[in-house]
Amino acid sequence: MATLKINDLHVEVEGKKILKGVTVSISEGETVALLGPNGHGKSTLLNVIMGHPRYKITSGSMYLDDVDITHMTTDERARAGLFLALQNPAEVTGVINSDFLRAAVNATSEEKISTYKFYKMLDGATKELKMPFDLATRSLNEGFSGGEKKRNEILQLLLLKPKIAMLDEIDSGLDVDAIQIVADVIKKEEENGRGFLVISHYARLFDLIKPTRAVVMINGRIVLDGDTSLIKRIDQNGYEFIKTELRIEIEKENADMNTVSIGSCAVKESIKK
Ligand SMILES: Nc1ncnc2c1ncn2[C@@H]1O[C@H](COP(=O)(O)OP(=O)(O)O)[C@@H](O)[C@H]1O
Ligand SMILES: [Mg+2]
Repeated sequence: MATLKINDLHVEVEGKKILKGVTVSISEGETVALLGPNGHGKSTLLNVIMGHPRYKITSGSMYLDDVDITHMTTDERARAGLFLALQNPAEVTGVINSDFLRAAVNATSEEKISTYKFYKMLDGATKELKMPFDLATRSLNEGFSGGEKKRNEILQLLLLKPKIAMLDEIDSGLDVDAIQIVADVIKKEEENGRGFLVISHYARLFDLIKPTRAVVMINGRIVLDGDTSLIKRIDQNGYEFIKTELRIEIEKENADMNTVSIGSCAVKESIKK
């Protein structure tokens, strides 16, 4: 059983300290809910785990089992079994979705997959996600609705079969039926042994996927790591109790926090090359 271990990770972006000592672990077969107010570093953590080159690790380490992945490139991490479904998937004109998906499958497996086998897999996965097959034949994410982009991220997950999958607000842009479909897939994949680290602001998704654990990120640190009753508590009362119980001053999201885009995922950039 593979375990991803993040130890005392400190990360800067453009000279600004964002992660200030993150320690957390995720194993195959478990689903960890990652909660926290906006702008506190959740997406940064996922991008850093995936090896986004924009983020600078100033100290700390990341291991997948005994393998030190701290300085691996994104495609090496993808081959090692990590996957990130993006909060804002980029539109890539001129790259056909199915070509991209096939390149991604080939880049992460030992052998090249045959055309027949690939299309069979693609057909099965699109049916499971109730996605119209023509989405696979269009330019990657171009003109896709918010929900279609998110389903396309989960489609990649189904094809790549990572050990640990990270989902960044996968439910935003999905309607109720689509959330159910995606949640069913996550649940099934967890039973197949995949591990999940899932960011969401909504209890609805967590009600469906039933995480095994919940962790809370405040001010660039994991300040709580506990059972899933935390999800309900935060859903009903917000984060104020953390201030009083843990005596942590919760930094307010400042004006520039939301204006910065994380950029597209480096996995996809590197696979395209
Ligand atoms: N590429 C970047 N360049 C500059 N600042 C960034 C970048 N990515 C994230 N940040 C900053 O890091 C902080 C944490 O952002 P983020 O990880 O997206 O938070 P969350 O996902 O918890 O809402 C924010 O202040 C954000 O503006
Ligand atoms: Mg985020």
